[in-house]
Amino acid sequence: MSSETVLHAARLRGAVRVPGDKSASHRALLLSALAEGTSRIDGLSPGEDVGATGVIIEQLGATRDRDGAHELVTGGALRAAEGPLDCGNSGTTMRLVAGLVSGIEGAHVLVGDPSLSRRPMDRVAVPLRAMGATLEGVGERHCAPLRVTGSRSLHGIDYDVPVPSAQVKSAVLLAGLSASSPTTVRERVRTRTATEDMLRLAGVTVESVDVDAGRRITLQPSRPRSRDWRVPGDPSQAAFFAVLGAVHPDAEIAVAAIDVAPERSGFVGVLRRMGADVSLVDTDGGTGLVARSSSLAATTIHAEEIPSVDEVPALTVAAAAATGVTAFLSMGELRVKESDRFEGSMALAGALGCRVWSEGDDFFVEGLGTAATFHSFKQSAVLDHRMVMAAAIAGVAGAGCVIEGVETVATSYPDFFSHLEGLR
Ligand code: S3P
Repeated sequence: MSSETVLHAARLRGAVRVPGDKSASHRALLLSALAEGTSRIDGLSPGEDVGATGVIIEQLGATRDRDGAHELVTGGALRAAEGPLDCGNSGTTMRLVAGLVSGIEGAHVLVGDPSLSRRPMDRVAVPLRAMGATLEGVGERHCAPLRVTGSRSLHGIDYDVPVPSAQVKSAVLLAGLSASSPTTVRERVRTRTATEDMLRLAGVTVESVDVDAGRRITLQPSRPRSRDWRVPGDPSQAAFFAVLGAVHPDAEIAVAAIDVAPERSGFVGVLRRMGADVSLVDTDGGTGLVARSSSLAATTIHAEEIPSVDEVPALTVAAAAATGVTAFLSMGELRVKESDRFEGSMALAGALGCRVWSEGDDFFVEGLGTAATFHSFKQSAVLDHRMVMAAAIAGVAGAGCVIEGVETVATSYPDFFSHLEGLR
């Protein structure tokens, strides 16, 4: 395990190209593996999480090749692998692959690192069992190793997802591809739509209807078609640079084209509401973002504004630099991410010198009014890329920090520290 000393930067200028969106990258690999023929993927995330999905599709019988910067995947007849399917640190891999292999006859064993092995898999085991697969995990929450016995005779279900989770929705839809009848998934909060959007692009009939604050999605079973995929930049990575640009006293940071779907770009609205000079701008490759030094004021952030709550560690740093008390409401899902980000985000704000407290699933950060008075701090190792990146931006904007276990950024953003350094 290595640690990194992050120093304060007096001035930050420059442009960053964040890696390809992690969510779209996983789906591009999985849908290409299911399709007959060869698909080309442009802009695949270089992170280890997506790498784990790539190795797994090969174990299941797909082949992968490179064509310059592009990834080529030839799919078709998938079959159960001999050995375990190693999902590493990636919850998306484990949950989506559980859905995919539910429709592939035979026994599949999904394993992960110590962080992933603590995360709940009952949320996918319950619906996938109802479709006809057999899933067994460890303990009440069905943690990894997760044993999935796939079946060629799955049936469609009508499933009301009890937690707001794109991963659960996607696992059920992927299993539904090989079911004997249509599958309906109901979500109470609109989560990211990469699975539905990409299934449609691959020729699968998926109907999506908004219902109150949520959606009803119905998929007709069929095999996705091979095609060329273009993965957009990852907005959840852009969030770190947006917050850094806003809280740093002398910064102007541009981020090249990212996915700006409403389910992914909620953090921009939150930052603007706090008074941040953050704007979406047209660039050659699509919509990018520019963030400049700003004075921030506290706000109230509800989890529904930023479904999947991936941007909360970054927004905690914004809250720490704002005047007043920022409320993070209904943030219970943070507890079951790569680490307990509920406690981790509070600890980070506390280490910066803020008063922090929680009530049930809500937590509160009383900001210092500026990043200039952030304390220097040491962050202990957690197997969580986003907690490392949040600590790093706080250190660069404030008085510096020492972060243990920095290598975990490789799960989603191997070049994060060099991109951060490139802004000095
Ligand atoms: C993801 C969904 C999210 C998010 C994760 C990626 C996906 O989790 O945290 O980083 O690609 O489907 P949820 O299942 O909580 O939505």
